[in-house]
Amino acid sequence: PRPILLTRHGESQDNVRGRIGGDSVLSETGDLYSEKLAKFVEERLKSERTASIWTSTLQRTIMTATPIVELPKIQWRALDEINAGVCDGMAYEEIKRNMPEEYESRKKDKLRYRYPRGESYLDVIQRLEPVIIELERQRAPVVVISHQAVLRALYAYFADRPLKEIPHIEVPLHTVIEIQMGVTGVQEKRYKLMD
Ligand code: F6P
Repeated sequence: PRPILLTRHGESQDNVRGRIGGDSVLSETGDLYSEKLAKFVEERLKSERTASIWTSTLQRTIMTATPIVELPKIQWRALDEINAGVCDGMAYEEIKRNMPEEYESRKKDKLRYRYPRGESYLDVIQRLEPVIIELERQRAPVVVISHQAVLRALYAYFADRPLKEIPHIEVPLHTVIEIQMGVTGVQEKRYKLMD
């Protein structure tokens, strides 16, 4: 059985400032995670002949993959974070203060809520379809370095979790979720590489 390793990028400067979206670089802590992840991947996949690293097109995932030198890397736009449209770059508090109706509608139905000029979770789930098809086709392990909303959707697909739970699944930073697909079903392990 081949593992799929799912992880968010290391902590970004926008994570530190509490801003959503954007295309910021990693913080120092995020850089440290990229080093730890490279060691983990090297150790975990050393017996595998072929494996690949899939990132989004955003700097924070590409930077997180940089220390992994020995494996081929592919960038997917479909792995980019949920597009927050007019709210891109804002903090949740700012949205609550300046656009209270938007804030409330999202709270009421986070799965279906679509950011003005942006996306909903359902949109994200739909655009992930080609990624999922390709992941299922792979015979070799894949390390997916992406973002919170996208990984919630990917994880839910493999762990067979209901749609309505997706926007609330815990996918913390600096943690690798390993998914093994075997004959007896799907097995999952979580590795917290740092705080
Ligand atoms: O805060 C990090 C982040 O990846 C944002 O870029 C994104 O908008 C958000 O998480 C998605 O999580 P939620 O759907 O809970 O707002």
